[in-house]
Amino acid sequence: VEVDRSPAERDRARALIYENVRDVVFLLEIEEGGFRFLEINPAFTSATGLREDQVVGKRVEDVIPEPSLSLVLARYHEAIERKETVRWEEITPYPAGRKYGQVSITPVSDEAGRCRYLIGTVHDVTAEARARALATAEQRVLEMVASDSTLAATLEALVLAVEEQAPPALASILLVSPEGERVLHGAAPHLPDEFNRAIDGARIDERAGSCGTAAALRRSIIVEDTEHDPLWEDYRDLARRHGLRACWSTPILNRDDRVLGTFALYYREPRVPTQEDLDLIARAVHVAGIAIQRHELDSQLRALSGRIEAAREEERTGIAREIHDQLGQSLTVLKMDIAWIARRARSPERLAVDVLLEKLDELSSTTDEIIREVRRISAELRPGVLDDLGLPSALAWQAQEFEKRTGIVCAVKVRADEKLPRDVGTAVFRVVQEALTNVARHAEARRVDVELEQDQGDLVLEVRDDGKGLRPEDVADPRSLGLLGMRERVRRLGGTASFLRRPEGGTTLVFRLPLSRAGGHDG
Ligand SMILES: Nc1ncnc2c1ncn2[C@@H]1O[C@H](COP(=O)(O)OP(=O)(O)O)[C@@H](O)[C@H]1O
Ligand SMILES: [Mg+2]
Repeated sequence: VEVDRSPAERDRARALIYENVRDVVFLLEIEEGGFRFLEINPAFTSATGLREDQVVGKRVEDVIPEPSLSLVLARYHEAIERKETVRWEEITPYPAGRKYGQVSITPVSDEAGRCRYLIGTVHDVTAEARARALATAEQRVLEMVASDSTLAATLEALVLAVEEQAPPALASILLVSPEGERVLHGAAPHLPDEFNRAIDGARIDERAGSCGTAAALRRSIIVEDTEHDPLWEDYRDLARRHGLRACWSTPILNRDDRVLGTFALYYREPRVPTQEDLDLIARAVHVAGIAIQRHELDSQLRALSGRIEAAREEERTGIAREIHDQLGQSLTVLKMDIAWIARRARSPERLAVDVLLEKLDELSSTTDEIIREVRRISAELRPGVLDDLGLPSALAWQAQEFEKRTGIVCAVKVRADEKLPRDVGTAVFRVVQEALTNVARHAEARRVDVELEQDQGDLVLEVRDDGKGLRPEDVADPRSLGLLGMRERVRRLGGTASFLRRPEGGTTLVFRLPLSRAGGHDG
């Protein structure tokens, strides 16, 4: 290690520090009524975006904008009066963006003890401050997502938070229409109304401005200057009218890569994003995605519960109709027979015993019929046969009823333990009930086979018909509540359901239910 270095070498070393230190360093001369920049290091120009000739030789009021200027001047005077270093934090808008800095100012006196210079340093904490502010804003927006705020209000809060972090950007969120062909207004509180209206409903394709193109190609589209980019051809006049020059748009995707919307930043000057900008956009896109998906889920749930309610209502209507038509009719016959007997009993010519007995036989068989009807209807409401007879007999009974009602042959084969858990039995019975109803309503089948067997730890139920076969789109359709209900029922018990159309025709439904489960429940 060299200890004795020449003054020239030491000057070179000092210059090396000054030129390369990451913090801002500057020297101010104190003059009559103010302060003038004498020297700034290269970090100064890169942090502020100001050129050296815009700073060196200039007075502070020509370099530092208000409202920072008043604070800065007060602190300079404080340092001079107290003859010691003064520190503070400030936020100042420079051409390079809004900067958060930890500033120190140290007074330097001449031999006579007069304060002649100020040495300043600034430690740039923009990234940390931004990350903190962003985390807070993100938290606030996520709280809105979790509460009952509307999607519009949540997205607007997000847009405002981003704009606050990245002035002078104007932020916008567009949503994708349900059929996926157009973008719809989401939130863009600071873009001109006319611009928002013009974009609302714009098509999605590969040459449709930044957002339409980003949605079509499912990747970020950075347009540095709308004035020259071919993607903006159709929207150039619009952009020009509103002075929007740069537009960077990023698609908002869900987990399955479906486009939910776009997030865009607009600027009034041509511009390319910095890494910081890209990070900010990525976070905004993430939060927007959560908000939109949550909203989608909510509306799906609302629609589903509406449909379930409608299905229940339909079921109740069906039962009411059956009680009215079937029971009502049989009871009317009964009532008429009783009235006939009463009338004859009162009439002068005596009712012969054998006629009376014959009539009572009729009454009795009508009553039997009514009892059967009541059993059938109540069995449909709750399969009591299941509790009385066990699953195999209940299925056989169900098949018999089905055959009688529809004329479709229904064969049941059970090769399983009679002692199934109660909830498994109920599930199988209900699933078969829905499957047979579908066969009667949709299949145009002549025969249906119901098979129940045990395969190691699983109970396997198969329902096969020889009808026209169910279509894959029926299975995919969220309105297929019957299919959905069957699947839900076995899923609740840890099982699986598959619905297939056989190549040779007809439908096969296969349900697998595990027989020993951890955490299973009865019901
Ligand atoms: N066994 C079947 N054969 C042919 N098509 C079927 C069969 N089961 C269901 N489907 C079709 O699947 C659709 C959805 O069934 P489901 O969810 O039970 O609703 P729903 O019975 O109320 O129409 C039916 O509308 C029908 O088009
Ligand atoms: Mg159905």
